[in-house]
Amino acid sequence: MKGFTMAEPKVAQKSPFVMKCEKKKYAWCACGLSATQPFCDGSHKGSEFSPIIVDMNDEKNIAWCGCKQSGNKPFCDGSHSSLE
Ligand code: FES
Ligand code: FES
Repeated sequence: MKGFTMAEPKVAQKSPFVMKCEKKKYAWCACGLSATQPFCDGSHKGSEFSPIIVDMNDEKNIAWCGCKQSGNKPFCDGSHSSLE
């Protein structure tokens, strides 16, 4: 699309947020602006970003993407290692 530019998310941190998650819904911050990383706190308002909702069906350890550049959002796929 001509003239279309995709806003870049802010790199919240150059490594994943690894944590044990419960059986519930999580809203992963896609914009990188949230103060409560890796989850959305509403800071994306007014931008073109919105959180990705994940309905966790089991308790498990999750590596949430902190750099916001993953090819498998909201999960870390190792893309952070190629960031400068
Ligand atoms: Fe980043 Fe909501 S604060 S997506
Ligand atoms: Fe983003 Fe690993 S933290 S890909």
